[in-house]
Amino acid sequence: MPDSSVPERLRQRHLLAISDLSEAEITLLLDCADSYVEQSRQPDKKSSQLRGRTVINLFFENSTRTRTSFEVAGKRLGADTVNMSVGSSSIKKGETLIDTALTLNAMHPDVLIVRHPESGAVELLSQKVSAAVINGGDGSHEHPTQALLDALTIRRRVGRLAGLKVAICGDIMHSRVARSNIHLLNIMGAQVRAIAPPTLLPPAIERLGVAVFHDMRAGLEGADIVMMLRLQLERMQGSFVPSTREYYRLYGLDRDKLSVANPEALIMHPGPMNRGVEIDSDVADDINRSVILDQVELGVAVRMACLDQLTRVLDAEGGD
Ligand code: CP
Repeated sequence: MPDSSVPERLRQRHLLAISDLSEAEITLLLDCADSYVEQSRQPDKKSSQLRGRTVINLFFENSTRTRTSFEVAGKRLGADTVNMSVGSSSIKKGETLIDTALTLNAMHPDVLIVRHPESGAVELLSQKVSAAVINGGDGSHEHPTQALLDALTIRRRVGRLAGLKVAICGDIMHSRVARSNIHLLNIMGAQVRAIAPPTLLPPAIERLGVAVFHDMRAGLEGADIVMMLRLQLERMQGSFVPSTREYYRLYGLDRDKLSVANPEALIMHPGPMNRGVEIDSDVADDINRSVILDQVELGVAVRMACLDQLTRVLDAEGGD
């Protein structure tokens, strides 16, 4: 019997932040993503849900996983997918973000996926266009599809999110992945811990509903899920850690620190990883504990679900 608490579709045309979603909407997206996992494992991976739709990737920051998986997701659903190369675009001639968005919007895309270094830029852009907009990561604000794929990875491995002890470790200050995960895990009833040196925690992080630890072993004690984060040196002006070697000694995940977590604890990382800085290769490559490549696989299914569900909203609105 269908779960009557799961809505038929999302309320909004855009996917900008996990904090905009309800528990039921997150469940809708995860259930939909679950239904797409098998499709990607078949020799014939194509279906036609998005036939005739146009999806444009507009990335103002580097990406391997998010950009490629949105392109793959769109193609698997039968959409025409276009990657706009910012480096060779008229942005280099001084065209603004909004003029670029209006220009692309005039070509009648159905979905724009946007990554931008400034927090709030993707939301601003979404107010100017008729296409559905998906936030592919804005500054240190949110990366909603990363949190959804992390949730799907946990749900498929453990069977639930509610009640799990999830430790998010590392550069939380600069991490949009951490913010989206904190929102999602709280909405879904998990217990979230933030582990970082004081310099890498945003002020008043407790208000987001996390328990704060500055000591890695204390924070990892009994954790069911260990999510490691990259040191985002490109967002740091000045020195936030004494040295990467000292950071690794205190906060790098290795066998010894992991030994205090739940013996079945899953190891996660959104990528790209800096081996030997926030994580040791021995644990990153542990086939029994690390689900880092599962996260990448399930990222395609989650992005198929987001494209599917947002175009259903467009259909319901009668948009083109
Ligand atoms: N996790 C993530 O967003 O990776 P990319 O920067 O490669 O897209």
